[in-house]
Amino acid sequence: MIASSSCQIMRSLHFFIFFSALITTYSTSTAVEITKGINGLDKVILRQTQGSGVEVYLYGAHVTSWKNGQGQELLFVSSKAIFDPPKPIRGGIPICFPQFSNLGTLQSHGFARNRLWTVDNNPPNVTSEVANGVFVDLLLKPTEEDLKIWPHRFEFRMRVTLGPTGDLMLASSIKNTDADGKLFTFTFAHHTYFSVSNISGVEVKGLGKLDYLDNLKNRERATEVGDAITIKSEFDRVYLSTPTEISILDQEKKRTFVVQKDGLPDAVVWNPWEAKAKTMADFGEDEFKYMVCVEAAAIEKPITLKPGEEWKGRLQLSTRL
Ligand code: BG6
Repeated sequence: MIASSSCQIMRSLHFFIFFSALITTYSTSTAVEITKGINGLDKVILRQTQGSGVEVYLYGAHVTSWKNGQGQELLFVSSKAIFDPPKPIRGGIPICFPQFSNLGTLQSHGFARNRLWTVDNNPPNVTSEVANGVFVDLLLKPTEEDLKIWPHRFEFRMRVTLGPTGDLMLASSIKNTDADGKLFTFTFAHHTYFSVSNISGVEVKGLGKLDYLDNLKNRERATEVGDAITIKSEFDRVYLSTPTEISILDQEKKRTFVVQKDGLPDAVVWNPWEAKAKTMADFGEDEFKYMVCVEAAAIEKPITLKPGEEWKGRLQLSTRL
């Protein structure tokens, strides 16, 4: 008992030193703040001088808020979201790794979204792009328990950057750190929930005429007929070999989200609609109207890394009126 509470104190002290160092090293005025979020979970807040802001929980390296310079929330988080590990948080930007959906033996969407990540106080490769922004580097390495369900050693670094004009960048690098010469294969997605005024006035552009796998029909392959996608019922498709830019038009707000991506060839478009929403304990019955997921992903062709190899993926979100 005493050992475990002194362990806890040491851990808290470690966090405190860690975070104080982070604030001292990387903050310009109030740009980076470490604080407690819902249920006492640690979260990092990034703020830009023009008023935009991002919040990311260490639990899941989960971005739960992205606000523009006018203080408007751009991401959807369910009013019923449960911030209680190991339950994943419903909304924001969950990370699906090392498995997308049920494409493997792990739980749905893998385990990265259910793990406590750490802050890297000594981040490498600070380029001019991130130097102009406000950023935090989060790290995930497997625990002995993780190795029992996925026997591969890796280091996953995600740099969350809030750019000077309020763009949100997620730059991921995943390295195979296995010393036994074993390769591994994974699928991946940034499962972004965008906040929209009403799904009936939303158009997803950039996926027209592309092939997709329909998750509602056993991943049957089909070809999109239209230029812009509109959603009028449950929708769950993996679009394949998509362009580096996809946009989401919210007609009522006259706002367009722009999704730019590298290393993430696929794009999932998901809305549970009414009937499925009713079966989800952490999602309000009519909340399907106010969200759409457009997920930058690598699914059709899983990524394989030999020991020492590294994969990089990048997602940039911005808005234009
Ligand atoms: C999407 C999948 O990415 O995530 C859907 O395509 C799934 O099939 C949805 O229902 C939500 O998944 P979860 O595990 O967060 O409920």
